[in-house]
Amino acid sequence: MKVGIIGAGTMGAGIAQAFAMTSGYEVYLCDISQELADKGKARILKNLDFLVGKEKITREEADAIAAKVATGQKEICTEADLIIEVAPENMEIKKTTFQELQKIVPAGCIFASNTSSLSITEMGAGLDRPLVGMHFFNPADRMKLVEVIAGANTPVELVEKIKSIAAEIGKTPVEVNEAAGFVVNRILIPMINEAINVYAAGVASVQDIDTAMQLGANHPMGPLALGDYIGLDIVLAIMEVIYHETGDSKYAPSPLLRKMVRAGKLGKKTGAGFYDYSK
Ligand SMILES: NC(=O)c1ccc[n+]([C@@H]2O[C@H](COP(=O)([O-])OP(=O)(O)OC[C@H]3O[C@@H](n4cnc5c(N)ncnc54)[C@H](O)[C@@H]3O)[C@@H](O)[C@H]2O)c1
Repeated sequence: MKVGIIGAGTMGAGIAQAFAMTSGYEVYLCDISQELADKGKARILKNLDFLVGKEKITREEADAIAAKVATGQKEICTEADLIIEVAPENMEIKKTTFQELQKIVPAGCIFASNTSSLSITEMGAGLDRPLVGMHFFNPADRMKLVEVIAGANTPVELVEKIKSIAAEIGKTPVEVNEAAGFVVNRILIPMINEAINVYAAGVASVQDIDTAMQLGANHPMGPLALGDYIGLDIVLAIMEVIYHETGDSKYAPSPLLRKMVRAGKLGKKTGAGFYDYSK
């Protein structure tokens, strides 16, 4: 099967790697320029080198996997059987991408989006074929979960097909009906938001909140450290989507979260969030 990955950033490269490492799959890794697509492939090569170093795969296997990843712009996808859109989280970009692709790919080519929050129903409106959500988790080459999202017009057969493809590349699919935040983010992000509210109310220190959830709820990472890792701007953006979509005040973003985002304290990526990463 030939898989076109549209967007060769953090997620696109990881998804491309997961497919290339499975026999029977070839990948077209695409971005808006050859240079950006090559940059995505360079990430894959780095990961493969790491796996060779750890003796998880041989150098020959790494070379064979790399050879299955062609790079370019989306116009190289003319023989794709499956397209996974992994462009930025912007409805207009995603819609335009699919509208342009439907003119150049075969009629039977399946369309899927890796969106983490946008409506599959809205994204698929006006396309000549149905759309399905195929939501991977970061890092996509290693994280096992794929949420398979059915929009209002997604046929059951398409959901089943994507579930079987996800299983073939070693992932565990879960079926989700379209809803703000799907399953994981709908539960996880409000939990992080609540941890921020607990901290803002002076209930406990940052470290003690994280220790409490690690040892008391058996979480591998405390919620505030996790928020820093995801990026507090992303946490805020997802809270806004869930809040606006549901209209339920229980999803209102924490004022402290807003304040930190306004201050540019976004977590690990800016060197400061609930913890200091400057050293
Ligand atoms: N980062 C995460 O943890 C995560 C997890 C799950 C889902 N997602 C979703 O995956 C998608 C991509 O996120 P990311 O973190 O990989 O972003 P990213 O910014 O790392 O990568 C996006 C890539 O898309 C490219 N791009 C921009 N416009 C394009 C276009 N018109 N056509 C093709 N490529 C284009 C960019 O040049 C960039 O390389 C988003 O929808 C995001 O919500 C992200």
